[in-house]
Amino acid sequence: MIYARIAGTGSYLPARVVPNSELEQRVDTSDQWIIERTGIKQRHLAAPDETTCDLAEHAARQALAAANCQPEDLDLIILGTTTPDRIYPSTACLLQARLGNHGAPAFDVQAVCSGFIYALSIATQFIQAGTAKKVLVVGAEIYSRILNWQDRNTCVLFGDGAGAVVLEASDTPGILSTHIHAEGQHNNLLSTPGTVDQGQIRNGAGFTEMQGSEVFKFAVNALSSVVDEALQHNQLQPSDIDWLIPHQANIRIIKATAKKLKLPMDQVIVTVPEHGNTSAASVPLALDVGVRDGRIQRGQTLLLEAIGGGFTWGAVLLKY
Ligand code: UT7
Repeated sequence: MIYARIAGTGSYLPARVVPNSELEQRVDTSDQWIIERTGIKQRHLAAPDETTCDLAEHAARQALAAANCQPEDLDLIILGTTTPDRIYPSTACLLQARLGNHGAPAFDVQAVCSGFIYALSIATQFIQAGTAKKVLVVGAEIYSRILNWQDRNTCVLFGDGAGAVVLEASDTPGILSTHIHAEGQHNNLLSTPGTVDQGQIRNGAGFTEMQGSEVFKFAVNALSSVVDEALQHNQLQPSDIDWLIPHQANIRIIKATAKKLKLPMDQVIVTVPEHGNTSAASVPLALDVGVRDGRIQRGQTLLLEAIGGGFTWGAVLLKY
């Protein structure tokens, strides 16, 4: 049996930190409201000349170094993003050029906040099929570019960042299973509806629009069901999980999933207060934080999960 094993992790956050108090100057909100309803205290925002590929490159180089892997060793690059540098080529191709890899297939995955979970799932299939041996999987976003900074319903929630892992083929576990889903009928509950047409944005704005409480309810149910699915598939109990590494959208959603698993919060990696919701970057960023501060140890069992626009959602259960 070939497993896909995480050989190294990396992450990157832009230098500029924006506390809630700065947003109080822009929209009718308060530090207290944001903390109580979301858990977010601050977020990192990219500089005007920074690109998603810049963030991805920092995270990727860290992951490659941690995995003791050279860019030319990679035989696949998959990048989850909703905020690509260009309409095309893919940000994965731009990253490949930066890293100096030649010839490996490289493509983006668009699953919004589930982008990394989707990308990890796809990478795992390639490794298990024997088609790839070393895969770079990245989640990178400059979500701040698709936020309406006059809309308090959305602008307080998101941040920018990137996270990455190098996956390698291994005869020891490894990713145990991946579970991804979508329900496209809910496409309007969380969306950036605009289309580029003849050089103009048409058929809606280029900003994120969200019906927050509807998304919240769906998220709690979908995440609770997908973590069950992952555990049942592996005939594991919640008590077998060492760490939950959830999508960092809202501390209340994270607590609901932990409660469902009867997992104490000190077994949950929580970065939402410092990072906000970094969309496809949120799970690999949280993973890297937990690895680098020494909480996550080799041999432990990790449960990763995320949900995003689409709706898309999923979970990955793995031995680190
Ligand atoms: O990453 C993809 C997944 N995304 C998510 O999981 C996000 C899911 N949704 C949420 O996290 C929450 O629904 C929010 C944090 C977005 C909102 O929290 P809520 O408890 O669901 O509040 P709400 O939408 O029901 O709004 C409550 C009130 C409203 O005022 P009224 O209509 O009751 O007078 C909002 O206008 O809070 C108001 N509000 C704000 N007030 C101060 C909304 N945003 C703000 C704000 N500051 N930033």
